[in-house]
Amino acid sequence: MSAPPLGVYVHWPFCKSKCPYCDFNSHVRDGVEQMRWRNALLTELEHAAREAPERRVETIFFGGGTPSLMAPETVGAVIERTRTLWDTAPDLEITLEANPTSVEAGKFAALAQAGVNRVSLGVQSLDADALRFLGREHSADEAIAAIATARHHFARYSFDLIYARPGQTVEAWLAELERALALAGEHLSVYQLTLERGTRFFTDHARGAFVLPDEDTSAELFERTQARLDEAGLPAYEISNHARPGAACRHNLIYWRYQDYVGIGPGAHGRFARDPRRPAAGKQATRRASGPEAWLEAVERDGHGTAESAIAQGSDLVEEALMMGLRLAGGIDRARFAEATGVDPVTALGEAKLAPLLKAGFLKVDATHLGATATGRQRLNAVLERLIA
Ligand SMILES: C[S@@+](CC[C@H](N)C(=O)[O-])C[C@H]1O[C@@H](n2cnc3c(N)ncnc32)[C@H](O)[C@@H]1O
Ligand code: SF4
Repeated sequence: MSAPPLGVYVHWPFCKSKCPYCDFNSHVRDGVEQMRWRNALLTELEHAAREAPERRVETIFFGGGTPSLMAPETVGAVIERTRTLWDTAPDLEITLEANPTSVEAGKFAALAQAGVNRVSLGVQSLDADALRFLGREHSADEAIAAIATARHHFARYSFDLIYARPGQTVEAWLAELERALALAGEHLSVYQLTLERGTRFFTDHARGAFVLPDEDTSAELFERTQARLDEAGLPAYEISNHARPGAACRHNLIYWRYQDYVGIGPGAHGRFARDPRRPAAGKQATRRASGPEAWLEAVERDGHGTAESAIAQGSDLVEEALMMGLRLAGGIDRARFAEATGVDPVTALGEAKLAPLLKAGFLKVDATHLGATATGRQRLNAVLERLIA
């Protein structure tokens, strides 16, 4: 039997500027000591290999922040070290999130050379006014050029768009989506703009600087997006992620299927079975220190930057697996869920909780899967509140 699969997440916490909508663990710094950061990432990677040994790494994901600002040598060193620390799949998926500025596109050849085989570009919009509103550092033309460069250098690419922006009509969005489809490859991520506490947009919105589309318009935007992308052969496989059959991001599927992953870098999370032969016995849940400098100093001092490490067991496993799995369009594979948590999801939830949500058309169930319908996925937080009380 081959070793259990594992995903490796690597967080790069720096950006050139902070976008007003973003609450990711991202920071602007004048200078980053690349060698110090490279050494610290490699040190924590070794620690992660001691935490979750004897697995087969299926995916590596460089997320951020803006990992396209990393030195390609650092990216290459992390990939190389991963290969020496674990067994790796022959078709290892190695994704890197990139901002589509011309400077960063200029690094794509070196990043591909370092081993990256999939990029996810933060295009956000193809409209000049919207890009300005979103505080982006690139123009639409630069983004289009970056997509072309990505297509040239990487076997797989995807890009992100943010819709349901202030004042955006359904017609305007569908026209923008059409232009995006002409540039799209096998994968597209489309996010509705959300206001995250602590961001500039949150305060701007609270003082009335702009209004978001109302609930009906948001619902229509979501439904029309789903329909158009279905028709274009890019159906949703998760709330905001669309792909051609077989082209889903395998790393993100690891999260949503509640499989094992380790996380390195500031604020990175990990979840991995304590005993891979008995996954339902519990997962180790780890979180590294969020602050870049605090993390760096901890790694240099202790060999890792772990801020929290706890054991998720019993109902924790069931709740986390539900929160993740109901995001998937195909729903939760009941047998896989039972293997990960020790219980079938339908049995765990019970008739009293499930029946009203099934009847209202928010959930769907059959012999092999339990899932949220498109309507259910659109209001997943409300659905989860009813399930996890
Ligand atoms: C870690 S970020 C992106 C990577 C890269 N730094 C960039 O900005 O191009 C991942 C994606 O989440 C989306 N996102 C972040 N904050 C959001 C928000 N408040 N509402 C909707 N989408 C958001 C954006 O599309 C973004 O590209
Ligand atoms: S959206 Fe991307 S570039 Fe902007 S602050 Fe967030 S992580 Fe950085």
